[in-house]
Amino acid sequence: MDGDRVVGHILFSLVVVETQAGPFDALGLGPMAVLPERQRGGIGSKLVTTGLTQCTALDYPAVVVLGHPDYYPGFGFVPAHRFGITCEFPSPPEAFMIRELQAGALAGKSGIAKYHAAFDAV
Ligand SMILES: CC(C)(COP(=O)(O)OP(=O)(O)OC[C@H]1O[C@@H](n2cnc3c(N)ncnc32)[C@H](O)[C@@H]1OP(=O)(O)O)[C@@H](O)C(=O)NCCC(=O)NCCS
Repeated sequence: MDGDRVVGHILFSLVVVETQAGPFDALGLGPMAVLPERQRGGIGSKLVTTGLTQCTALDYPAVVVLGHPDYYPGFGFVPAHRFGITCEFPSPPEAFMIRELQAGALAGKSGIAKYHAAFDAV
């Protein structure tokens, strides 16, 4: 917020990663957006870093994101296929990324990430 005006938005929602050993819960980042006239001013970075801190405090193992492959690596995201994790939605492999919130949390946890049903309509 800037005063009473919303200048940026970020959402994290529950994502279930289905693995051969059973499902585990993670979080999905997105959608996020900053007002066009306020972009490139650091608001998006603050939303991501503050959000990731809160996700860590909530004790989730990881956050996934389907987005710009040039933007999210700056916040520690790497292509999820490195962990054998794919997205239920068809997407370029480099666009589906993941960030561990606890070191080693994704070891041996390959599977398919499924978003909340609300995203099926997108
Ligand atoms: C992507 C978005 C949320 C970034 O917010 P922002 O407030 O402009 O981001 P920041 O000012 O914190 O930028 C951080 C860095 O990312 C870079 N960056 C911003 N948008 C980028 C993009 N689309 N692709 C690659 N890099 C980008 C900036 O240049 C900046 O790098 P710098 O510090 O070296 O200059 C914003 O541009 C936006 O709302 N875009 C339209 C909606 C959108 O694409 N949402 C994301 C869907 S995945």
